[in-house]
Amino acid sequence: MGLKPRRIAVLLSGRGSNLRALHEAIAQGRLKADLVAVGSDQPQAAGVAWAREQGLPVHVCPRTAFADRATFESALLTPISAAQPDWLILAGFMRVLSAQTVAQWQGRMLNLHPSLLPRHPGLDTHRKALSAGDAEHGASVHFVSEVLDGGPVIAQVAFPLDPTATPESLAAGLQPLEHRLLTEVVGWAVAGRLSLREGRVQLDDQTLQAPRRL
Ligand code: GRF
Repeated sequence: MGLKPRRIAVLLSGRGSNLRALHEAIAQGRLKADLVAVGSDQPQAAGVAWAREQGLPVHVCPRTAFADRATFESALLTPISAAQPDWLILAGFMRVLSAQTVAQWQGRMLNLHPSLLPRHPGLDTHRKALSAGDAEHGASVHFVSEVLDGGPVIAQVAFPLDPTATPESLAAGLQPLEHRLLTEVVGWAVAGRLSLREGRVQLDDQTLQAPRRL
């Protein structure tokens, strides 16, 4: 990594609103980063179309075009790596990456997850939080490890969970909070304030004892 590890790449599979939030923060000077590549497994994703309209370098590899996961990941990530990002940001990327890929990006790959991890890893987090009767809900940004949604959590946003909410209303309410969370954490990353040491999150050279609440 350079002195200021400001080069970021984003992987997405869907709408891409978090990519847009990062892009906007960069354009407005709130995030001092260079968005050097966007990757996706979904040719039809709204986020892909949007990124192309912006003239961003976009690499799309549909999983079904490849015989196995290793070939798919290599096809997707080789051009991403060639852009030399310091950080790889998973923002709604819906594929589980192999342990080998995770190891290659260890300490440099962040994921945004729509729950207060370690609660509710995996899919359908809003429904899970409602059925569990959780008092609060939110989103997390964590370092990616080989355990799905199980890597060290860096920061979270949380709100009291209204038991009459629906998964859809929760997703809609969470979205702007996720944008703020991801932008903030990526800001720490590109400022050289964030690292992973012996499996623990370091922020400003201190070991985080618990995820930051934003
Ligand atoms: C977000 O809710 C994120 O937490 C989840 O996927 C969604 C991505 O949204 N992993 P978008 O594609 O960035 O709009």
